Amino acid sequence: MLIPKIALPLLALALGGLGTALAGQQSTAAPPPPGPGLELINERCGYCHSTAQVTDVRKTPAAWAATVQSMIDRGAELEPEEQKIMVDYLAAHRAAPVDAAAAAR
Ligand code: HEC
Repeated sequence: MLIPKIALPLLALALGGLGTALAGQQSTAAPPPPGPGLELINERCGYCHSTAQVTDVRKTPAAWAATVQSMIDRGAELEPEEQKIMVDYLAAHRAAPVDAAAAAR
C-alpha cells in the first residue's frame, strides 16, 4: 500500500466535504431519519415527485398538515392514521428553522 494509513481517512473527509459542497444549498440538511413516516413518503408521495422534494422542505407543523392534506387532495393515497404518522414525522424531523429556534429557548 503506497498511501499511508492516515491519508485514507483524510481523503475520505476531503471527498465528503466536496460532495457536501456540490450539494449546494441543501448541504447542511441531515438525511431524513428512517421510520414509518419516511417509508410512507417513499411509497405514497414518490408517485408524483422524489422523496427529496419533500424532505428538502422545512415547514411549521401546521403547514406540514396543510401540505399533506393538499397532496391527498391531489391524489396521494393515505389512510387517516397514515396521514397522522406522516405529519408527525415531518413536523418532528423537517420543522422550519424558526420552530427549532423557538423550541431551543
Ligand atoms: C398526485 C400527485 C402528487 C402526489 C401523490 C403528491 N404530490 Fe406533492 N406535489 C405535487 C405537485 C404537482 C407539486 C408542485 C406544485 C405545488 O407546489 O403546488 C407538489 C409539491 C410538493 C411540495 C413542495 C411544495 C410545497 O407545498 O412545499 C411538497 C413539500 C410536497 N409536494 C409534499 C408531498 C407529500 C408529503 C406527498 C405525500 C403525501 C405528496 N407531496 C404527494 C403533486 C403530488
